[in-house]
Amino acid sequence: MKKDIERVLVDEAVIQKRLDSMAKQIEEEFPAGPIVVIILLKGALVFAADLLRRIPRELSIECLNVASYHGGLESSGKVDFLDRHFPEVKGKHILLLDDILDTGRTLVAVAERLTEEGAAAVHTGVLLAKDKKRAEEVSADYVGFEINDEFVVGYGLDYKGKYRNLPYVGVLKLSAAN
Ligand code: XMP
Repeated sequence: MKKDIERVLVDEAVIQKRLDSMAKQIEEEFPAGPIVVIILLKGALVFAADLLRRIPRELSIECLNVASYHGGLESSGKVDFLDRHFPEVKGKHILLLDDILDTGRTLVAVAERLTEEGAAAVHTGVLLAKDKKRAEEVSADYVGFEINDEFVVGYGLDYKGKYRNLPYVGVLKLSAAN
């Protein structure tokens, strides 16, 4: 896998340190009471697992399968909800976690759906946010790292299902994306 990585963008130690401060911020800022965490599969799994273990608060975990990339390098522009069951969120305070904020379509579509389903409030957290003009006007409440607009993999992010288990975030070599 390593041979396909052009360069490491955010290394393991830096990620882990940043998660400490993100978790602290979430713990301090989130309204009192339980949190329902919604993890967007599969990209946010690794990030969420490491982040949530740092939050000493009653919380429950739900996962949602949405697709916007369909395995390529470019966003398809459409967000599909792939689950038959939607979590019970009525009156709940939600922390919605995704791996990366790119065009913004995913976070907007999921946050809208959560609001339609009666969530009391939807707060959003992402490991990465690409520094670019987004298709949707959206920013996340909690952002691990701002990065340039390049295709990255690792720490949950994939290209065609690969590289999710790299412990760091790296830029994929163009030659590996064929
Ligand atoms: P949007 O465009 O809806 O995108 O904000 C969010 C989803 O797109 C995927 N995505 C990426 N996946 N490397 C990846 O492995 C990237 O650089 C990248 N940019 C966007 C990702 O699934 C995210 O949840």
